[in-house]
Amino acid sequence: MDKISPIGIFDSGYGGLTILNEIRKELPDYDYLYLGDNARTPYGTRSFEVVYKFTLQCVKYLFSQGCQLVILACNTASAKALRTIQQSDLPKIDSSKRVLGVIRPTVEIVGQLTKSNHIGLFATEGTVKSNSYPLEIQKLFPTIKVTSEACPMWVPLIENNEHLDEGADYFVRKHTQNLMNTDAEIDAVILGCTHYPLLKEKIENALPPDLQVISQGEIVAKSLADYLLRHPEMDEKCSKNGTIRYLTTENPDKFDESASVFLSEEIRAEHVEVE
Ligand code: DGL
Repeated sequence: MDKISPIGIFDSGYGGLTILNEIRKELPDYDYLYLGDNARTPYGTRSFEVVYKFTLQCVKYLFSQGCQLVILACNTASAKALRTIQQSDLPKIDSSKRVLGVIRPTVEIVGQLTKSNHIGLFATEGTVKSNSYPLEIQKLFPTIKVTSEACPMWVPLIENNEHLDEGADYFVRKHTQNLMNTDAEIDAVILGCTHYPLLKEKIENALPPDLQVISQGEIVAKSLADYLLRHPEMDEKCSKNGTIRYLTTENPDKFDESASVFLSEEIRAEHVEVE
């Protein structure tokens, strides 16, 4: 068999699995290598420097495993590390490799989501503080008003499998109410963290019924398919045997158990040291 060049999918933990699921539905023939930096999650409350350093280490690790293309399936890493990696690091590492994020594809379709031109964003503290979403939306859709709400407890609830319990209701209500109290004209909300689709039902129930709640998985998957069509030179380099491997910087047994919340199949993750 030819050397495998999987598409690398990176997240601070399990959240990127919501993106991977949709990518695999859209592009089932490709090989994938998922890396969760579970030992150092969450990234959402960490500084720019730390998120950049950790993300770069993980991207380099995925490159060392044969990946030519890496998707940062993490909004926090996309907000805080993507641009520097693309502009400063890739030219030094290997200018033929590519790293893509999840914010740009999401922002590109924002215009189709709102009639009122008022959009809400739920995201980690890091993504909200980076201002990436409002800045990017402003460039493409200057008339759209974005109201952001940081939800620092949502990732820990999900990572600890507490998101379906009553305790989670309190934190969902708190942030949905904050958002709607700030701007009652919002008619669409972006879940700008790859973990949040696991709370989607609770979020929808806590918001006005006609309000749209948008997860990123399908958007990112379609955008990746489009990218590969537009870049046949990259598409040719990505191997296509339909395989998938899961890597974690934490204990792999813990990963297998927790990842089952995100995936509907049994998996065997492998432990890796990333530095
Ligand atoms: N899943 C990541 C994101 O999309 C954040 C999780 C974390 O805080 O580490 O932002």
